[in-house]
Amino acid sequence: MTPEHSSERLRELGGLAPVIPVLVVHDAAQARPLAQALVAGGLPVLEVTLRTPAALDAIAQMAGVPGCVVGAGTVLGPTDVKAALAAGAQFAVSPGATDALLAACETNDLPVLPGAATASETMSLLERGYSAQKFFPAEVAGGVRALKAIGAPIPQVSFCPTGGVSPDNAADYLALDNCLCVGGSWVAPANLVASGDWEAIETLARNAAGLARN
Ligand code: 3PG
Repeated sequence: MTPEHSSERLRELGGLAPVIPVLVVHDAAQARPLAQALVAGGLPVLEVTLRTPAALDAIAQMAGVPGCVVGAGTVLGPTDVKAALAAGAQFAVSPGATDALLAACETNDLPVLPGAATASETMSLLERGYSAQKFFPAEVAGGVRALKAIGAPIPQVSFCPTGGVSPDNAADYLALDNCLCVGGSWVAPANLVASGDWEAIETLARNAAGLARN
């Protein structure tokens, strides 16, 4: 898959909802009801971070939920790419980008949202053909003002800011011309996932899905 095609796919996915939930799943048994609640609330595109032993199982479970498009997050290199694909992930998200990671995604036809935090990182990815990128860590890297500033000289790149995005600032990011969607963990807080409060998670998802965007 070419980088251009990959970014086109990520733009399509980013168009499905204003927020991509960033999920940390500790128990694969929680995956299905969690995904169902998020999809029911209007957030069909989900990112499961590969940071727990249950993550790959969770992706496999979520891949079977009607209407759900599940991707793998925290994908750091070729080994993660292969594992994510085998589990049924339809896209990958990375906090940064390395040549090995990008090459593995391209060779294995896995659309990827690579991370950038500076103008130079954004330019390197764009040079390779990636016009959809993750802005990470969004708040620490300068937040809304930084993303807006990067958009002035490099308007052809659209971003999914992630890292510190919350209900308090999501609308400000989404108002920017170069913001595709935002990523965040706030729609699936650890305590609600642990207690299996799917109704509360569906409500959080519905509020997030209702956020206005540019
Ligand atoms: C992550 O990789 O954990 C994401 O950046 C989520 O960040 P958040 O918890 O601040 O939403």
